[in-house]
Amino acid sequence: MGNIHGRFEPSNSTDKALLIGSHMDTVIDAGMYDGALGIICAISALKVLRVTGKLQRLTRPVEVIAFSDEEGVRFQTTFLGSAAVAGILPESILQVSDKSGTTVQEALRLNSFEASAAALGQVKYSPESVGSYVEVHLEQGPVLEALRYPLGVVKGIAGQTRLKVIVDGSQGHAGTVPMKLRRDPMVAAAELVVTLEGLCKDPSRFLTYDEECGCFTEESLAGLVCTVGELLTWPSASNVIPGQVNFTVDIRAMDDLVRETIVASFSRIVMQRCDHRLVDCAVEHKHSAAATPCDPELTAQLKRATRSAVSAMAPGGHGHAGAESTATPVLMSGAGHDAMAMARLTRVGMLFVRCRGGVSHSPEEHVAEDDVWAAGLALLRFLDQHAVAEL
Ligand code: GLV
Ligand code: MN
Ligand code: MN
Repeated sequence: MGNIHGRFEPSNSTDKALLIGSHMDTVIDAGMYDGALGIICAISALKVLRVTGKLQRLTRPVEVIAFSDEEGVRFQTTFLGSAAVAGILPESILQVSDKSGTTVQEALRLNSFEASAAALGQVKYSPESVGSYVEVHLEQGPVLEALRYPLGVVKGIAGQTRLKVIVDGSQGHAGTVPMKLRRDPMVAAAELVVTLEGLCKDPSRFLTYDEECGCFTEESLAGLVCTVGELLTWPSASNVIPGQVNFTVDIRAMDDLVRETIVASFSRIVMQRCDHRLVDCAVEHKHSAAATPCDPELTAQLKRATRSAVSAMAPGGHGHAGAESTATPVLMSGAGHDAMAMARLTRVGMLFVRCRGGVSHSPEEHVAEDDVWAAGLALLRFLDQHAVAEL
């Protein structure tokens, strides 16, 4: 699938492997850290183990994986690399095409990968061979910065659904078709985008306790977010009533039932509004991933490693210069990560790194050098605890 693997295999170990990874693709107009930071931290930590002679004392195989296509920008379906390793990528993925009509299979072949269903099967790891997966990633939100702490551990990752909504109307001349006679997909799409915002901003107005499932609480609705990030209109000219408008929908929540109910409610609303406006609509499901809890034991180990790294970093070893609290923060992740796919293979743990202003998916994304250092050191301490034999 275009992943890159680097593995150290101790000669006398029968233990299950520790996998450490993140992704090497990124979004359009992105920053430098989303994905790449986790790969660089992993390689750096292993390099230190090599330089200090500890690599020879590893008790289990340790493998760094740079995953391809986590973001799903090109094919609208995420985690291609990690889902292949986890063995959850269906063969049908090979026939999914990008906007230009190039399929995943063709894209892989253009890059000299075999890309057959059989080859895809070979990328899969057996659950018996893997003990855990750990990922370092920038936080992509403002919590660590507000807490003035460089690192945090992740308790769980929100579930997500991606949809594509296709609205077909009647293409026509902007100057001649009277307003009352139009079947304009642009205004229908605009109405749907605003409706989606209302649905996610104030879900309790739409999902009543009894009607939907009898189980929504304020807590379960917290963290629900919906986004329309891409809207395409055809033929996209100022003097033409569009014939077709397509837009993407990204819905995330910590509670899977909340997300599924919002998806169902929105899909129903799309059909109602489209009937009302006499346009034809279709809702395609592009991707869905359940919310993923991180493993408590790995999380506790990452927490210990974090504390040790942060306190080692300040002058005199009394704490990272920017760290003003002593307890390692525990966060939920609204962003998706390869760890979600890897959780279908093995237990997962994640370490978050503070980023400036909580900004990500933007060229403004920034992580301070000291915080990168802290993340690499925490991972090194984790490896020390988890995979290096004592002398
Ligand atoms: C990945 O960055 C995602 O959460 O969409
Ligand atoms: Mn991203
Ligand atoms: Mn990422």
